[in-house]
Amino acid sequence: MNTQTQRQGGATLEAGGPGTPAVSLHGITKTFGTNTVVQPLDLSIGENEFFSILGPSGCGKTTLMRMITGFETPTGGVVRLGGQDVTRVPTRNRDLNMLFQSYALFPHLTVFENVAFELRVRKTPKAEAERRATEALELVKLGHLAERKPDMLSGGQRQRVALARAVVSNPKVVLLDEPLGALDQQLRKEMQIELKRMQREVGITFIYVTHDQEEALTMSDRIAVMSEGVVQQIDTPTAIYNQPGTRFVAGFIGSCNLIDVTAPAGAAGDRVSVEVAGVGPVEGVLAADGDRAMPGTLLLRPERLALTRDGSGIPARLETMTFLGEEWHYTLRAGESVWKVSVSSLDAERELAGVAEGAELRLSWRPEDARIVTR
Ligand SMILES: Nc1ncnc2c1ncn2[C@@H]1O[C@H](COP(=O)(O)OP(=O)(O)OP(=O)(O)O)[C@@H](O)[C@H]1O
Ligand SMILES: [Mg+2]
Repeated sequence: MNTQTQRQGGATLEAGGPGTPAVSLHGITKTFGTNTVVQPLDLSIGENEFFSILGPSGCGKTTLMRMITGFETPTGGVVRLGGQDVTRVPTRNRDLNMLFQSYALFPHLTVFENVAFELRVRKTPKAEAERRATEALELVKLGHLAERKPDMLSGGQRQRVALARAVVSNPKVVLLDEPLGALDQQLRKEMQIELKRMQREVGITFIYVTHDQEEALTMSDRIAVMSEGVVQQIDTPTAIYNQPGTRFVAGFIGSCNLIDVTAPAGAAGDRVSVEVAGVGPVEGVLAADGDRAMPGTLLLRPERLALTRDGSGIPARLETMTFLGEEWHYTLRAGESVWKVSVSSLDAERELAGVAEGAELRLSWRPEDARIVTR
């Protein structure tokens, strides 16, 4: 909670009181013609939160962002900023800034003028505009290039100018739509660290769109995973990875074995036995409550599987083995499915030395690591 919120507390609890989310969406939906690209959605994003929206191309990420900024009018629902309904408020009167997927700098202006541009438009007094632009450039470590023109900068430096421009007016919320998309891998990694540092320093709510799962996992306080206009899960990075709520989330984030099963009725967390085709009964836990048997998926991360020469576990034939330095990746056939297993190189040396393709091995896991979902 910052001073702004404290000041607003009490009198205006409804709008902007303590604990009021920076952004909240209530039943927001968007339809183009007959095509619903964002299904009705409720979402709250906290003050100073680094919130990511993650999903494949075309799933509705940019459309969702544009509804928050006001560039797009929702077909239904309400957008609140700091508790206030802004659904019909034009973008320029919303306390936010958006860094677009394809941003552009003004080529005829210097780095400094690019950053100060918005402050000029807002008629900020000259001295204050200069101070703020200088600070924003310091924040992205570009103070020394203030007088250059954009065409004399590297891609990463241009990206930094765009970032400085997005935070210079100190908005409550900055929305960033795939801001690192155009950068090479190395620069992307550096900028991820920079961005995270900046966000902490300035204490602004960041809403960050990416289709890169690793980026979302490393940077975010919370992630919303989207698919085809539907938000599948909103959670912390560890919960998204360790407790995926749907088959899509499990398959999209990291690598996962997705085994078709019939999920029995029961309560979330119940330990149950399910039949795997050609294998027999295996154990797992239900991810959610269900009052009747449903087609489901057994979710098992490759690193949660143990591979042994013998002992208990289901019989599996080794099909491929790949060395990746830190670990080995194995694929095995058990029943009608192919299973992926990753084993640290140390464990592989200890347990599986001399094992070759075609070997008959055993696969086992702790029941609590096998989640059964019905979506
Ligand atoms: N103005 C529009 N008119 C009609 N359809 C649109 C419009 N804008 C977006 N769409 C459609 O809405 C869907 C979601 O688009 P959106 O741009 O939100 O996807 P995205 O998740 O941002 O994808 P990407 O990762 O490729 O940027 C797509 O099928 C797109 O074709
Ligand atoms: Mg997009």
